[in-house]
Amino acid sequence: MSKINYFVLITGFTLLFAACKPEVKQQTLQTDNTESLLENRYQQLLNYPIDSLGFPRSMSLNPDSIHKAPSKDWTSGFFPGSLWQLYKLTGNEAYKEKAAQWTALMENQKYNDKTHDMGFKIYCSFGEGLKVEDNQFYKDVIVQSAKTLSTRFNKKVGSLRSWDFNSDIWEFPVIIDNMLNLELLFEATKISGDSTYHKIAETHASTTLKNHFRPDNSIYHVVVYDTITGVAKMKVTHQGFNDESTWARGQGWGIYGYTMAYRYTKNPAFLKQAEATAKFYMEHKNLPEDGIPYWDFNDPAIPNAPRDASAAAVVTSAMYELYGFTKNTVYLDFANKVLANLNSSNYILNDKVNGPFILNHSTGNWPKNDEIDEPISYADYYFLEALLRKKAL
Ligand code: GLY
Repeated sequence: MSKINYFVLITGFTLLFAACKPEVKQQTLQTDNTESLLENRYQQLLNYPIDSLGFPRSMSLNPDSIHKAPSKDWTSGFFPGSLWQLYKLTGNEAYKEKAAQWTALMENQKYNDKTHDMGFKIYCSFGEGLKVEDNQFYKDVIVQSAKTLSTRFNKKVGSLRSWDFNSDIWEFPVIIDNMLNLELLFEATKISGDSTYHKIAETHASTTLKNHFRPDNSIYHVVVYDTITGVAKMKVTHQGFNDESTWARGQGWGIYGYTMAYRYTKNPAFLKQAEATAKFYMEHKNLPEDGIPYWDFNDPAIPNAPRDASAAAVVTSAMYELYGFTKNTVYLDFANKVLANLNSSNYILNDKVNGPFILNHSTGNWPKNDEIDEPISYADYYFLEALLRKKAL
């Protein structure tokens, strides 16, 4: 073979190899010291001192300052939930002990009827505990919390009320995030045998399906209902860029919520909506190459807008479950890609940051200029859930 032919053959082979291996680019992100970074972060969650009024919610960097919240805050269940998940990931009993201690501090929320966030709070803490051990006390708290949450259901509207504030303008507001609270209700029926909770959850999901989605399967954040007629009379945002924009985490709650609702109901309309919503998200022209979205798909500042790693973590975890139901590898490939990118030094906090968090670059509430581009507890919770779901495949 002449030197030129040999050169052409080798070059062709190299190009062909590169074309068949698009994941190489992602893998290079993981060549950093991810494992030791993660170990350090996990240890920081374990070391964080127990404080009934100090559930770690988020953190400002430079200077480091931890934003702590009491158990009534919507985010309080995520920290205990992350500890339960760390126990499952590592097998280290110390995480289990700490998880149980933090979880016990959440019990006082079981009669709190002023919030729809009962699922986030109680299911992410007691529910995660129940996945680890059969515990009658945990079951009782879950059922009582479901009973309390059910008092927010309005039959005429067919939904659970989300918020009580702004009641002079919002007669009966329902936010897409509320889909996540349904898991508590579905599980309460499984535990107690009382179908009331399951029926409320399924009705809420059906009502939300009718009113929260735009024709392109993007999602309105807040839908306001008339309690006399049950009609959806206003569609607005609270945490997105504007009423017609697509708030990234809201889209994530929708993908996760309908996949989870399908798990309990096997209603094909729920699965169809989860897939349509996922397609909108994955194919959006403003989704960056690494799959970690800007906080809102329509922020005109893109590409200079902050990212939201929490939305990415919620969606990644949901995609693993969606793949389980559909066996469509589009979801699996997407989840693997985004998880690899989150699980890199681009997103994992470095060991100089002193605080009980794992991931950086989440955005909590952009319109209020609150928790922008920083560590937030729910990003960690769904990141760990995604790691566990990947492991279980
Ligand atoms: N549920 C509130 C949020 O996603 O920020």
